[in-house]
Amino acid sequence: MKLKAPQLVHRIKGGHFLMLEVSSTYDPMGRRAFAVGDVRNDELLIFYDVVGRGTGLMSQMREGDEVRVFAPLGKRLFDYEGNKHLLIGGGVGLAGLSLYGKELRDMGKEVVFVYGARSAEHLGMSDWLKEEGFDFILFTDDGSAGRKGLVTEVLREFGKDWRVSACGPKPMLKALRNLSQETGHEVFLSLEERMACGWGVCLGCVVKDPEGGYRRVCYEGPVFNAREVIF
Ligand SMILES: Cc1cc2nc3c(=O)[nH]c(=O)nc-3n(C[C@H](O)[C@H](O)[C@H](O)COP(=O)(O)OP(=O)(O)OC[C@H]3O[C@@H](n4cnc5c(N)ncnc54)[C@H](O)[C@@H]3O)c2cc1C
Ligand code: FES
Repeated sequence: MKLKAPQLVHRIKGGHFLMLEVSSTYDPMGRRAFAVGDVRNDELLIFYDVVGRGTGLMSQMREGDEVRVFAPLGKRLFDYEGNKHLLIGGGVGLAGLSLYGKELRDMGKEVVFVYGARSAEHLGMSDWLKEEGFDFILFTDDGSAGRKGLVTEVLREFGKDWRVSACGPKPMLKALRNLSQETGHEVFLSLEERMACGWGVCLGCVVKDPEGGYRRVCYEGPVFNAREVIF
């Protein structure tokens, strides 16, 4: 979905997300959260999967329709340290990393994307990666595109001097965190907990931290060092 938002584009950084009102009525209630996948001229791009009622309604919207969005959201974003960056996206989670990848490349850093999904038809952002000319490695569970297997395997092929950032389903993030304890990589995770408000009020998005406290993903995150959160 492309959103013309000239008043917002200059305020968006990689890792930011927005809350989009999928309906002007109370059915379904609330906004839905989406990563800002790219910024082109005065447009924000979001890449989404249709999973339920809200995203179903979004898929019926047409050019010229107006929607209300709340953005930019997310207080703690990715940092820009290090010169080599491995960006690992599971499914539509890649949209949480795409803009960050462009920023890193503009800074002259080396960037490799790793993009995995169940099967070829779930690799909807491959065209974006090609258009943008990034180096990327594809994985599918069933081998219908790219390598057969899990994106996490790639960690063993890159030295510890590569900083790893990831976004995707929780099992993938957990596996990455566990493997990084073996390989010694520094790993940053952008979490996509279910969100009701998106700005720190409802406490619906909390995750535990190792000290026994809680962090609001929308407000203290969405990006955390993998060692900082338990999920
Ligand atoms: C910070 C953030 C960024 C996100 N970025 C993207 C994105 O770039 N592209 C994209 O397609 N999706 C993204 N999501 C997920 C997206 O918000 C949900 O898919 C959407 O809210 C589903 O709304 P729905 O009304 O269609 O589905 P619902 O009817 O609300 O739910 C349908 C199904 O999706 C599950 N679900 C709903 N929300 C979530 C969630 N947050 N995480 C896991 N499962 C969920 C439900 O359990 C149910 O099985 C993001 C979520 C967060 C919190
Ligand atoms: S979504 Fe409400 S506190 Fe995070």
